[in-house]
Amino acid sequence: MGIAESAVILGCDHAAFPLKEKIKAFLTAKGVEVEDVGTHSEASVDYPDYAIKVAQAISNNQFKRGILICGTGLGMSMVANKFPHVRAGLCNDLFSAILSRQHNDANILVMGGRVIGETLAQKIVDAWLKTPYEGGRHQSRLAKFESYAKIQSSIKNQSQEPN
Ligand code: RB5
Repeated sequence: MGIAESAVILGCDHAAFPLKEKIKAFLTAKGVEVEDVGTHSEASVDYPDYAIKVAQAISNNQFKRGILICGTGLGMSMVANKFPHVRAGLCNDLFSAILSRQHNDANILVMGGRVIGETLAQKIVDAWLKTPYEGGRHQSRLAKFESYAKIQSSIKNQSQEPN
């Protein structure tokens, strides 16, 4: 599958299902294509299952932007940041959302459905999608941890080779 430039892959757990539905409607109304990987109700689920679906799609370059929402946003961001090339930023305020794009080139926005309300979440999503990465001095900083992730993954691959 090729990269979906403007589409957003969206996932949540039960704690954030109501907010996820509102964000999905908000994005759809703005003409943004949304790939909703669930969950689809308030029945209890495990947040890593949804974080993995979204983070894998970003890591594999299937989508450029993702949004994850759980109760606090903490679990989702912890899981997502284990994937190569994923830069997930937990942003429950507007300032962090803008800076996560400008300085960190965040490719997954994480929010807490039990922390913020619909209006603030919409403002955060809107700003996050609109804000470009500044590059410049931030690029060498991103490169430092991208190359660290590459080293980690090559160590892992070497240890899996038969000797
Ligand atoms: C679910 O109760 C809750 O733990 C989850 O939504 C999230 O906040 C985890 O970090």
